[in-house]
Amino acid sequence: CGIVAYIGPREAYPIILKGLKRLEYRGYDSAGVALLNSGLKVYKKKGRVSELEESLQGVDLHAHIGIGHTRWATHGEPNDRNAHPHTSASGNLAMIHNGIIENYAQLKKELTKKGYTFKSDTDTEVLLNFIEDIQTNNNCSLEEAVRIALKRVVGAYVIVLINKNDPDTLIAARKGSPLVIGIGKNEHFLASDASPIIEYTKEVVYVNDYEIAIIKQDELILKNLGNERQTPFITKLDMELAAIEKGGYDHFMLKEIFEQPQTIYDCLRGRLDAQAGTITMSGIQKYAEQISNANRIIIVACGTSWHAGLVAEYIFEELCRINVEVEYASEFRYRNPVINKGDVIIAISQSGETADTLVAIENAKAKGALILGVVNVVGSSIARISDAGAYTHAGPEIGVASTKAFTAQLAVLTMIALKIGYEKGTLDHDRYMQLLQELDAIPDKVTEVLRSKDNIQAIAEKYKDAKDALYLGRGYNFPVALEGALKLKEISYIHAEGYPAAEMKHGPIALVDEDLPVVFVATKDSYHEKVVSNMQEIKARKGKIIAVINEGDEQSSALAQDIITIPQADEIVAPMLSAIPMQLLAYYIGIAKGYDVDKPRNLAKSVTVE
Ligand code: G6P
Repeated sequence: CGIVAYIGPREAYPIILKGLKRLEYRGYDSAGVALLNSGLKVYKKKGRVSELEESLQGVDLHAHIGIGHTRWATHGEPNDRNAHPHTSASGNLAMIHNGIIENYAQLKKELTKKGYTFKSDTDTEVLLNFIEDIQTNNNCSLEEAVRIALKRVVGAYVIVLINKNDPDTLIAARKGSPLVIGIGKNEHFLASDASPIIEYTKEVVYVNDYEIAIIKQDELILKNLGNERQTPFITKLDMELAAIEKGGYDHFMLKEIFEQPQTIYDCLRGRLDAQAGTITMSGIQKYAEQISNANRIIIVACGTSWHAGLVAEYIFEELCRINVEVEYASEFRYRNPVINKGDVIIAISQSGETADTLVAIENAKAKGALILGVVNVVGSSIARISDAGAYTHAGPEIGVASTKAFTAQLAVLTMIALKIGYEKGTLDHDRYMQLLQELDAIPDKVTEVLRSKDNIQAIAEKYKDAKDALYLGRGYNFPVALEGALKLKEISYIHAEGYPAAEMKHGPIALVDEDLPVVFVATKDSYHEKVVSNMQEIKARKGKIIAVINEGDEQSSALAQDIITIPQADEIVAPMLSAIPMQLLAYYIGIAKGYDVDKPRNLAKSVTVE
C-alpha cells in the first residue's frame, strides 16, 4: 500500500492526490483520502486513484491537513468499505495503514465484547478502534493512546492518524513498513517513499522502527515507544523529479527497459576501471576477507531479485569457488535454517522494503551472519539493516514488473564476484582482465539489443493469443528463462513456465504441441550445443520456437520459427543482454492485449506484507 499525508499552508487534497498517483505502483485496489476542515471528511473508493478523483469532481475539498491511501488488499476484498482511510467508532479519528496487524483477531474479539461493531473487514479498523478505546478509557492524548496500543500490536505497520479534535496535528508511527517525512517551510509531507515529496522539498527524515512522529505545520517531534524524544536525522534526497516521470514514453516499463544502457553504466561508473583492472566497492572491500573465507554464501530475495540471485549463484561458484545457496526469503525466514559462523548472507531487493526479505536478514543477523545488501532504493530498510553492501543505482523503478533493477543487480553481483574471486586467487589475472572488459562493454551492447524492438514487437503480435508459453535455458541463461516466464505472466496474464532446457524432458515436454510457443534463451556459451539438442526435441514435437541467439548462429536459426539476435558476450555477463528481449516480449504482448502494463492486476511493486 502507499500512504501520503500533508500538513501546512497549501491545499492538502491536490498534494495528496498527486502523491497517491506517484505511489500507485505500491497497490491500486482502492484509494481514499480524509481531510480535516470544519469537520472530518472521508472519501474512498474501489479502483484506481483516477476513479476516486473523478468521483470527487465538484466536491468542496478545501483543507490544509489530510491523509491519503492507495491499497493492495490483504484483509478484506477490495471494495469501497475496505478502502482506507478508516474512521473510528466515534467518528473523531481517521487512519491510514500499510502493513498487517497479525493479532487483529484477538484485538477484535476484545473490542467486540465491549460492544464495538465494525464497518469493514480490515485489521486497520480494529487497530484504530483499539487506539480510540485506550484513549477513552485512559482519558489520555491520542499520542499516548497510540503508544500504548502499539506495545500490544504484533505485525508490521505504518499508520497515520488525524483527529477532529486536534486539527493541527498528524500522528504517525512505523514498524517494518517504510515512512518518509519531508520537511518543508512551515509544512510537512509524509509518504511511503520519497517520490511524492521530491517536488516540494529535498530534506527528509526516514522514520525508524518503533518511532512515533507528532507532526505539526512547523514542528516534527519523534519519540520512541518509551516516550523519549529522538533526534530526527535529516537526509538530503539525491533524486530528480524527471526520474519519476514518463519522459515521453507510453509506459514506465518501456522507459525503464530503454534506460538500461544508462542504468548499467551508472552502476559500473566509479567502480569498474577496466583499463586499470580495478573494482572499487568500499562496502564490499571492508569485508572482502570475510567474504573470501566464507564457507557459504546464502542469497535471500523474492521475485525478480531472486532470479538475479540464481544467476549470481552460477557466477560466484565459478569465479570464487564458494558454495552458494539461493533462498526464497519467505521460506528461509520460517525454516529454522542452519546458519553457521562464517556464513555470508546477500539480500537482493529493488525496493529494500520487501517484508519477507527484511525479516529473513534480521533473523540471520541475530544468528551472527554477515549481511550484505544489494539494494536499489537508497536509505531503504534493507539497506539500513545490512552490515554493508552496494547500491544498484538504477534510479526509481516505477513499472510494477522489474526490468532495469534486474540488470543492475546482475551488474553489481558480477562486480562483487569478480572482486572477491580475484582477491581470493580463484580467478586468474587474464580471465579477470577479460571479464572486466566484457562488463565494461555491456551498456553499448544493451543499446544494440534494444534496436531489435520492432522485430520483438512483431513476434509479440504473432503469439499474443497463446494460452501458455514455455521458457527454456541452461546455465547462466536458465534464470533468464525463469525471469522471461515471470515477466510474461505478470504483464500479459498468459500462463508461462520457465525451466532448465534439459529438465524439460521430465514433464513440460508433455505440453508441447503446435500451439505452444517455446522461448529458448540460447546464446553461445559452454552449454550451447546441449541447448540446440533440446531445441531439436521441441521441434520434433512441432512446438513453435522463438530463439534468442547470437548473430551468425545458423544452427539455432534453422530450428526456430522466430529469432531475436543479440550481440555475443562472455557467458558470465550474457544474462544482462538476454534478459532484455524477455522484457520487451512481455511488454509488447501486454500492450497488444490492451493491458495496463505498468499496473498489472493483483500485483504490487513493493510488498511490505508477508
Ligand atoms: C514484487 C514485485 C517484483 C519484485 C518482488 C521483490 O513482487 O512486483 O517485481 O521482484 O516484489 O521485490 P524487491 O523490491 O525486494 O526486489
